[in-house]
Amino acid sequence: MSFNANKFTRMFFVAVLVTGTAMSVARVSDARAEGQKSAVSDPKWKSECGACHFAYPPRFLPAESWRAIMTGLDKHFGSNAGLDAESANEITAFLEKNASTKKHDTTMKPLLRITETSWFKSEHREVAASTWKLPKVKSPANCVACHTKAESGDFDEDNVRIPK
Ligand code: HEC
Ligand code: HEC
Repeated sequence: MSFNANKFTRMFFVAVLVTGTAMSVARVSDARAEGQKSAVSDPKWKSECGACHFAYPPRFLPAESWRAIMTGLDKHFGSNAGLDAESANEITAFLEKNASTKKHDTTMKPLLRITETSWFKSEHREVAASTWKLPKVKSPANCVACHTKAESGDFDEDNVRIPK
């Protein structure tokens, strides 16, 4: 009997340990999800949406925002970014599949800018107004100016360098 009880105790502690570790891993990845490296890519998206600016990773906007962007490409922030239907469909599917799944206020028109989302403003609240206007930054939309590894999808705070 005492052997069985011992075995049970040991199993119980192993189970607690494993569960505890899994939970803290989940919490860390929640907190870091925004900065984490994203492996997703698509050749059409990379070439077409990276032609004028850095190809913004899909996880930074919800699907409805990407849909709104993709249906208005001929009038895209003052530029004509129009595409043939086949490319547009491929890119829309890629963006929607990898979009942010955060709850979105459906009474609002979908935001077209990552830089207008509340998480963006909150993550960048310590960036001074003058920093956004530096000649090497020019616009908050110029992610690569400060996120040195953004091209590979890595926005981790450890890889942020504000240009001089
Ligand atoms: C012809 C040039 C051009 C092409 C091609 C282009 N864009 Fe843009 N895009 C712009 C300009 C200009 C802005 C405004 C940049 C700024 O405010 O600094 C912009 C801004 C954006 C923004 C908002 C950035 C922010 O958060 O402020 C998103 C999102 C975006 N583009 C997505 C796309 C996607 C998706 C594609 C591919 C289907 C694409 N763009 C292709 C010119 C282009
Ligand atoms: C002027 C420089 C600058 C620009 C431009 C910029 N960021 Fe940042 N970003 C920062 C700083 C500084 C932080 C905060 C780092 C910290 O907390 O130590 C940050 C934090 C972040 C984080 C959270 C990282 C983490 O590990 O928690 C994300 C995600 C992010 N930025 C995405 C973007 C995206 C997407 C763009 C472009 C649309 C962008 N940033 C443009 C400077 C910039």
